Amino acid sequence: MRYAILYDSHSGNTAHVAQIIRHTLPEDDCLCFYSTIEAFKHPEKFAEADLIFYGFWTDRLSCPEQSQKLLPQLPATKIALFGTAGFGEGEDYFKKIMDNAAQYLPQGATLTGTFMCTGKMPMSVQEQYLKLLHDPAIHEQAEAMLKNYDMVKGHPDDTDLQAAAAFAKQQYDSAQ
Ligand SMILES: Cc1cc2nc3c(=O)[nH]c(=O)nc-3n(C[C@H](O)[C@H](O)[C@H](O)COP(=O)(O)O)c2cc1C
Repeated sequence: MRYAILYDSHSGNTAHVAQIIRHTLPEDDCLCFYSTIEAFKHPEKFAEADLIFYGFWTDRLSCPEQSQKLLPQLPATKIALFGTAGFGEGEDYFKKIMDNAAQYLPQGATLTGTFMCTGKMPMSVQEQYLKLLHDPAIHEQAEAMLKNYDMVKGHPDDTDLQAAAAFAKQQYDSAQ
């Protein structure tokens, strides 16, 4: 069973999850471990994959633009989606993001499973929210955003990464 790991990561959270998946699964079966840039350049490396793990960061409730371009170009094989999101609103919220991203899968592909966890936001985002606190019109909103910022700080954490590893193993075992 040959698998590939592809990931779209802006600030490192999703790349971290991708690394954990890589270290969980047998190295000999891994065709490639590519960021989107590498994946665009070398599609032949994962053309024969039986299972593709595809990871992305969340951008406006979906996968980012690069992923929207790359996902439809993947081979029509088994695909397991994983990702990180900056808002920890729970499983329904994560499912919405995954559903939006799944729309970009190529025709004939099988979505075998999804995994999502929270991922910390950059400090620049906190600075922005702190400035917004001074505006009475959006004070409450800024407070809620700062609360969320604190909640996702430190993620993906050990629990997230263990869950990602379990997901990877389960997906790999079922695809055998
Ligand atoms: C421009 C931008 C848009 C974002 N949009 C969302 C969003 O709609 N929903 C969400 O939950 N997180 C959103 N986030 C947060 C990131 O998806 C989250 O921090 C993720 O873990 C980043 O992963 P990365 O480090 O792999 O890039 C956004 C972040 C940025 C920079």
